[in-house]
Amino acid sequence: MEEALTRATVPKLLVANWKLNPQIEAEAVRLARASDAKNIVIAPPFPFLVAVGKALKRATLGAQDVFWKLHGAYTGGVSPLMLRALGVRYVIVGHSERRALGETDTMVNKKARAALRAGLAPILCVGEPLAVRRKGLAAAKRFVAHQLRADLRGVSPSSVISHQSLVVAYEPLWAIGTGRAATPADAAEMAEFIKGLLVKSYKLKVSVLYGGSVNVRNAGAFLAEPAIDGALVGGASLQAAEFRKMISINQRS
Ligand code: 13P
Repeated sequence: MEEALTRATVPKLLVANWKLNPQIEAEAVRLARASDAKNIVIAPPFPFLVAVGKALKRATLGAQDVFWKLHGAYTGGVSPLMLRALGVRYVIVGHSERRALGETDTMVNKKARAALRAGLAPILCVGEPLAVRRKGLAAAKRFVAHQLRADLRGVSPSSVISHQSLVVAYEPLWAIGTGRAATPADAAEMAEFIKGLLVKSYKLKVSVLYGGSVNVRNAGAFLAEPAIDGALVGGASLQAAEFRKMISINQRS
């Protein structure tokens, strides 16, 4: 019932990042069918992209990662053109779970640029760790600004405009998978800050999502913030009934 009190004012973008779930294709297809709605992006693991793409009629297909090279001796690599050919439209780059495995800003930058060149819309993830957030929101903004500058080096407005979109997801590390989301007001302030910075420094107009412990109880409050253009959802996107409720919160106007 809580969701009825905090409804979104316009449909925004809900991105389901399934991470390394589910385990089998049949389950992925079932979840995709249950989550199939407008303004939804589903990002399954690579091996399920084809089956999930076929199952979706309204939602858009996303991928969780991409490599920046188009061909060659790069074991394990998946190129942006390969993703495009599978019907992928969005690709998450720079997720903190990949950064934790050693992905640097230089690598994230190459991925974002390669995605844009191939006609994919990158969902660039940025966000500060807890130690930084403890110093206050101003310190968090400085951290995020530094990430954005490094991750978007060389990205021109024309490359973004001609490929339709660049999405930034503000995902504070301390909020991911912890059940402790940022407050909608803080997330909105950060979203405003990111938009302002990118317009001023790069002439880039971006959409900004919030991610980190978004669930059926708090989704409406995030989506109701004018500065927040949607949500990047992990755990709750794997619960079909919960995600369906989040979709209907997003669709009510
Ligand atoms: P949770 O929604 O499980 O906190 O995960 C957020 C996330 O990392 C989405 O990319």
